[in-house]
Amino acid sequence: MKVLVAGGAGYIGSHVGLELSRWGHQPVVLDNLVKGHRQAVVTGKFIQGDVGDKALVKQIIQEEQIEAAVHLCAYSLVGESVTEPAKYFHNNIGNGLSFLDALRESGVNKFVFSSTAAVFGEPEKIPIPEDHPKNPTSPYGFSKLTFEGILKFYDRAYGMKYIALRYFNAAGADPEAAIGEDHQPESHLIPIVLQTAQGLRPHIEIFGTDYPTSDGTCVRDYIHVNDLAQAHILALEALAKGADSTIYNLGNGQGYSNRQVIEVAKKVSGKVISVKEGPRRPGDPAVLVASANRIKEELGWKPQYPQLEKIIETAWRWHAGHPNGYEG
Ligand code: NAD
Ligand code: UFG
Repeated sequence: MKVLVAGGAGYIGSHVGLELSRWGHQPVVLDNLVKGHRQAVVTGKFIQGDVGDKALVKQIIQEEQIEAAVHLCAYSLVGESVTEPAKYFHNNIGNGLSFLDALRESGVNKFVFSSTAAVFGEPEKIPIPEDHPKNPTSPYGFSKLTFEGILKFYDRAYGMKYIALRYFNAAGADPEAAIGEDHQPESHLIPIVLQTAQGLRPHIEIFGTDYPTSDGTCVRDYIHVNDLAQAHILALEALAKGADSTIYNLGNGQGYSNRQVIEVAKKVSGKVISVKEGPRRPGDPAVLVASANRIKEELGWKPQYPQLEKIIETAWRWHAGHPNGYEG
């Protein structure tokens, strides 16, 4: 299948593009490089441009004979979204809507969307199933939930068939290719912990040690980026076979506290990791763990890296080989 991978120069998108090639599909990456990296696109064609540029998207669809799209473009810093909601709504909703219109006006009706566990807000029960109440606490989470709603109505009115994938915490790197996580600024726990192990940061600050969890720190469900990528291929292939629109959670169903993550990172890296205890980060739920049974049952999704240690090993390999990320 010829697939337009919007946001394919980013962390998750670069792994989706690579996995598409491995499965015999042809990715065409569109990315404006506002956050992504040209070097992260290791397979398929790369086009630099904005997903909200409708004329460009229509031209690409026609010239490249695009059959389906994956939409990973977004701003995704939860804290920044609170202070700059307009930036988030314009990119995550406005540009996404323009992208959808370019697709439907060009007759492309298979769409996979990067959604997030942030649509749930503070969970009422753990693990979190797909039909759990949605109360996003940030403009970022709200933008993703809004886009899920737009997709539902585009399906009803225009037959836009979609699968929205709600990722929990993406982590790790492809074990073979030279791609990995390089966000600027980096806000995610695992890369920050590993940069501390490398001596690039003096310490990791744990945001909050008074949560109602076993060791007082937040608990998250880490999922390997290749396992996420695999789910995109399964979703695209299901849509190609006529599957109905739906939404799936993607996680391993197992939670690790921030302190546990640091301990595993110490073991994997063999390095000292200095820890500083700090206040809570506003908006962080205490525990986020997915129930991902539906995608396992319906699409046969089977994570290859369910253990945190393996996930961190692949991330460590990337960070050790690329201390400055894609720069240098
Ligand atoms: P990322 O920033 O590395 O990738 C996003 C890519 O989209 C970047 O390459 C950026 O340049 C591009 N982009 C953004 N706006 C664009 C626009 N208007 N036109 C063209 N390109 C544009 O982020 P990521 O961590 O790879 O996340 C990918 C997606 O997954 C995002 O939608 C994010 O909200 C979602 N998500 C990520 C996580 C996670 O743990 N990283 C968890 C849940 C959901
Ligand atoms: N943390 C620290 N210190 C740091 C960085 C993070 O203690 O320097 C903590 C956070 O407070 C949180 C945990 O590590 O308790 C995980 O934080 P991340 O920033 O790595 O990930 P989040 O769980 O906040 O966010 C991720 C994605 C979002 C998505 C969310 C949904 O980045 O896009 O998962 O679960 F919305």
